[in-house]
Amino acid sequence: MSLRLFATKDINTLLNEAKNDGEHGLRRALGATNLVTLGIGAIIGAGIFVITGQAAAQFAGPAILISFVLAGIACAFAGLCYAEFASMIPIAGSAYTYSYATLGEFIAWIIGWDLILEYAFGAATVAVGWSGHLRAFFQDMGWKLPIMPTSHFMLHGHTMQLKYDYIGFIIILVITTILVIGIKESANFTTAIVILKVSVVCIFIALAVAFLTSHGWNSNYWHPFIPPNTGVRGEFGWSGILRGAGVVFFAYIGFDAVSTAAQEAKNPAKDMPIGILGSLVVCTVLYILVSGLLTHLVPYTQLMVPDPVVVGIRATGHLWATYLVEIGALGGLATVMLVMLLGQSRVFYSMSRDGLLWPWASKIHPRFRTPYINSIVIGFGVAILATVLPLRILDEMTSVGTLLAFMLVSAGVWVLRKKHPEIERPFKTPMVPLVPILAILFSGLLIVSLSGWTLARLVIWLVIGLVIYFTYGRKHSRVQRLAAAGNKTSPTMTD
Ligand code: ALA
Repeated sequence: MSLRLFATKDINTLLNEAKNDGEHGLRRALGATNLVTLGIGAIIGAGIFVITGQAAAQFAGPAILISFVLAGIACAFAGLCYAEFASMIPIAGSAYTYSYATLGEFIAWIIGWDLILEYAFGAATVAVGWSGHLRAFFQDMGWKLPIMPTSHFMLHGHTMQLKYDYIGFIIILVITTILVIGIKESANFTTAIVILKVSVVCIFIALAVAFLTSHGWNSNYWHPFIPPNTGVRGEFGWSGILRGAGVVFFAYIGFDAVSTAAQEAKNPAKDMPIGILGSLVVCTVLYILVSGLLTHLVPYTQLMVPDPVVVGIRATGHLWATYLVEIGALGGLATVMLVMLLGQSRVFYSMSRDGLLWPWASKIHPRFRTPYINSIVIGFGVAILATVLPLRILDEMTSVGTLLAFMLVSAGVWVLRKKHPEIERPFKTPMVPLVPILAILFSGLLIVSLSGWTLARLVIWLVIGLVIYFTYGRKHSRVQRLAAAGNKTSPTMTD
């Protein structure tokens, strides 16, 4: 087979699929408010409840607030690009589908493979955060959980310790079971959890402001606001702020999940951009307030814990609020895991349907009507990741994977404007190519701010992906086979 790396799915075929689906498939029931709620539900999670404190303690100090602003700007540019795609191609599958139609199969494969980092590693990161909150909750209630088993091994002459976070393992398997059985979260249940977690964040803000006001805002934990660099790149100072931005970027992940609901939006042209950008704006404001207040309440050096927001609320002296934050975080993190595992399973499903992954990944359960085999395989894989890998590695791998997807999607918007200027774009990204270029530059900046090990792991991950693509995906690709058979009626080749 000749090398047709840039074979694309025909954009008009995709648009027709979206239209037919809209007419005969999923019900268009979601308005702008529902979409903003969906976005907030997918966004607020371990990023704010766990990673804020750890990033402040290790990289940025109180200047973690600036890190949140930087990460928010990168997301705003990428969000504007996602909004154009989501309103134009209102079809499930997100970045993978967009890129198949624009940048070709090879890039689509890279994005699909890369999205495993966003969804699977992301779910594992949140599972570790969930486990930390459950332990804190049990401790506060005076109950005891069995301690984490550990084992030791030697690396370069140093003894290393492996912890087995069995709670992370169990929660991922519970959520996987829910996904396999296909219990649809009712819209009301999701809304209730979103209201609970946003309320918890707002209660933290209100109690912190009240406490600091009654003490005259005279804590000196903000001095120095930017702790001096330790001499190691990324440990405080400006390089620490950048590294912090790359790490807390995790907190914003999820707004792209709004785009996967495009087929169920009443008016995707108008509501998609509102859903994506609206949820981003709300979360950015909340994050800036929480991180600023948290480092005002507690010295940043004491935030290297699994439940920093709980530590912050404890400092205000309101014990009842401590329980509330713990319960809100447990519920909130569970919905984020659900969205991520669902996203992962649907991306695998689409890739398998396109022939790029093995047929078992799109096999549907006869009774539950869910892609059960792929959900189970993903569930076990993610549960193992959550059990053995530390939060820091999981978080950085999720961030780097998502940032790479953002770069490719933003480039896709620009490419499609050149290749298909005639397509109707209900929402247009402003100032193309400037905004896509800024999205690419900001995302690239955050990628290089992450640790060298993370970048090395990304390269290894991509190499493994390429091996699978060239040994399996390319040979079984539906688009490639149809083109080879000379069938030009469905997907087309444009290489
Ligand atoms: N943004 C999501 C979280 O913080 C992934 O948990």
